[in-house]
Amino acid sequence: MQRDILIKWLNWFYTLEMSQVELYLTQARHSNDDYLANVLLTLAATEIRHAESIKEIIIKLDSQVMLIDKLLSQIIGYIPGQVSPFIGKSNLYYYNYSLESIAVHDYKLFLKSLDFNSKIERDLAPLLLNNMIDEDLHRLWFKGQRESLS
Ligand SMILES: [Fe+2]
Ligand SMILES: [Fe+2]
Repeated sequence: MQRDILIKWLNWFYTLEMSQVELYLTQARHSNDDYLANVLLTLAATEIRHAESIKEIIIKLDSQVMLIDKLLSQIIGYIPGQVSPFIGKSNLYYYNYSLESIAVHDYKLFLKSLDFNSKIERDLAPLLLNNMIDEDLHRLWFKGQRESLS
């Protein structure tokens, strides 16, 4: 994969992870359900770890992190975080589930696009796989919560 494409991918994931951090922290702040708020904080801590790990690689590639589009990250993260106390739990679970599903889908696609002849891309695979597993578990948690409402 060309270096600039690799960096674009990494910046996309950095943006997505930071959006999730923003979303979960904002939702936790506005939640009156203690259990949910604590789960959201735990997830936010995982997403921060993901974002940091991706940032490290971008820096290793002699580049700088860049939020793909600050506005995009705000739309994904901050605004739904603000409105979600008013949209009800079912919609919150569904929204978060959708976002986690995008993450799983994109990690999978990125993993498939890696060139295993390149050392840097080969080294990237376990990290992407680990992040993807976390997102998959998050996704299933939101799905389960939503289903248990009905
Ligand atoms: Fe993540
Ligand atoms: Fe996640």
